Amino acid sequence: MILRKLRTTIQFLIYKLSAKSSFKVHSPYVFKLYTDVILDRSPQPAFSRIEKQRSGLLRQRSLLETTDFGTGANKDNYKTRFRQVKNVTRYSSVSPKLGKLIYRLVKYAEPEEILEIGTAMGISTLYIASAAPESKIITMEGCAVIAEKARENFNHFRIQYIEIVMGNFDRLITKTVNKFNKLDFVLLDGNHRKEPTMDYFRQILPKLHPGSMVVIDDIHWSKGMEEAWNEIRKHEAVSVSIDLFRAGILLFKKDIAKENFVLRF
Ligand SMILES: C[S@@+](CC[C@H](N)C(=O)[O-])C[C@H]1O[C@@H](n2cnc3c(N)ncnc32)[C@H](O)[C@@H]1O
Repeated sequence: MILRKLRTTIQFLIYKLSAKSSFKVHSPYVFKLYTDVILDRSPQPAFSRIEKQRSGLLRQRSLLETTDFGTGANKDNYKTRFRQVKNVTRYSSVSPKLGKLIYRLVKYAEPEEILEIGTAMGISTLYIASAAPESKIITMEGCAVIAEKARENFNHFRIQYIEIVMGNFDRLITKTVNKFNKLDFVLLDGNHRKEPTMDYFRQILPKLHPGSMVVIDDIHWSKGMEEAWNEIRKHEAVSVSIDLFRAGILLFKKDIAKENFVLRF
């Protein structure tokens, strides 16, 4: 744990030294995406509502019996433990900054079909759904008790159109991906290990198209995640990859030179 944190701190310093500003982005398409979308800081009505919901969850001390199929799992591939609602929210959810970025990216991409791998309390799902109220959205969560809390949050926002697929991603990913005609936007935010991340990417690949956008959270969270990110961004299907340290964005456009951008965020 301490070693992982130390490693992430070093990686962050390397990122800080190498990340570029807009002046160094020569691709017109990426320049526009960066300046108009990624760096945009305008407030949106949805932001304060979602952050108010998060604040409420961060005050809840009630215990949930959670099941972890991801990085916290033991050799049997899962681990149950009691966790307070506030702690699940604090340690699992996207930051406000990243949530708002996801909102802007979804608005920009105008996706019709959206898959989120990793729901937790549904904070990122709320950002996605607020930006795409007409879209088909499926979100996946292994822990039924946490998924129930996410459902409560969606109900609070009167959002009924989000489908939650409950169970281990490894078992359900193929079936879930097959529910889509195409994947326009994917947020990969669960089971932050190299092989599962590579596998989920391979599974979504056949449904991606030149207009798709994929966001991977925590690309520098561990050595495994970093290896997965580096392999994925080099994949022939990926044309543009953007490393914002906390998350990575993948584009699949055909009429653009393949390039990896490390950008300040
Ligand atoms: C980082 S959290 C998702 C956070 C959410 N996207 C947000 O920002 O609000 C990852 C979630 O994925 C779930 N998860 C991790 N590995 C899983 C697996 N193999 N199968 C099913 N669920 C898994 C965890 O239970 C956790 O709630």
